Amino acid sequence: MENLKQNQPIGIFDSGAGGLTVASAVKNLLPEEKIIYFGDTAHLPYGDKSTETVKNYSLRITDFLLEKKCKIILIACNTASAAAYEAVKEKAKGRAIVLNVIDPATKYVANETSLKKVGVIGTKGTIQSGTYTKKIKSFQKNKEVVSLQTPLLVPMIEEGFIYDNISNSIIKQYLSNEKLKDIDGLILACTHYPIIKNQIRKYYNFKTTVIDSSVVVAQELKKILSENNLLNSENKMPEHEFFISDYTDFFKTLAEMFFDSEINLQKKHL
Ligand code: DGL
Repeated sequence: MENLKQNQPIGIFDSGAGGLTVASAVKNLLPEEKIIYFGDTAHLPYGDKSTETVKNYSLRITDFLLEKKCKIILIACNTASAAAYEAVKEKAKGRAIVLNVIDPATKYVANETSLKKVGVIGTKGTIQSGTYTKKIKSFQKNKEVVSLQTPLLVPMIEEGFIYDNISNSIIKQYLSNEKLKDIDGLILACTHYPIIKNQIRKYYNFKTTVIDSSVVVAQELKKILSENNLLNSENKMPEHEFFISDYTDFFKTLAEMFFDSEINLQKKHL
């Protein structure tokens, strides 16, 4: 898009704090890019809402990020990527490039020949949409894809039950499901799950590939910016902006952990 400029920010949104895993991967790979993050904490979780509702929320956030003159909008929420990608793209047409978290991960899996049978875990919305299976199959129809809803994992993580006995038994309960038997790889199809990635790897005794899409997504974002000559060439520390629709301690703690500094949280109800 010719009208976009290199020094415009990158907009990233999620239903809450989970997308910070993606934002932090973007910050690490592209430290000179300014990020404007929107966490829709007032409407969290998206995972058990209807497609229509998630679409509406996503479009309101898109308007906000377009007002903020973002050159690219990254939907850092799997549920919103499944429900609203086409609608967000349509709204941003000619004004910003739109990227979702599902395409880069599914492309990666489709091209990885060592992965014959792949498991996908995510929220009810993401799994019911069937988007991961459809996309992987569209790239590589010979892959076996099995998916499982794991709705307890988000509240578990938000309540701080990580790397302890409670979370170990919930993870075990889900991952021992017959559907996931003999998988070679597991896609973490929810932005919260990278937080417990090592716990999941440990469940498999580090023998199954666990795919954390945040890193793959950040690489894809860099590629797209570069192809469009939109990588920021200014060499100064960007001041990222964080907006949330409702204050939560979890968000602040996680944002400061991932961005390694005090952050200025602004409340914005959309
Ligand atoms: N961010 C959501 C996702 O990646 C998980 C949290 C929610 O249900 O809103 O699907």
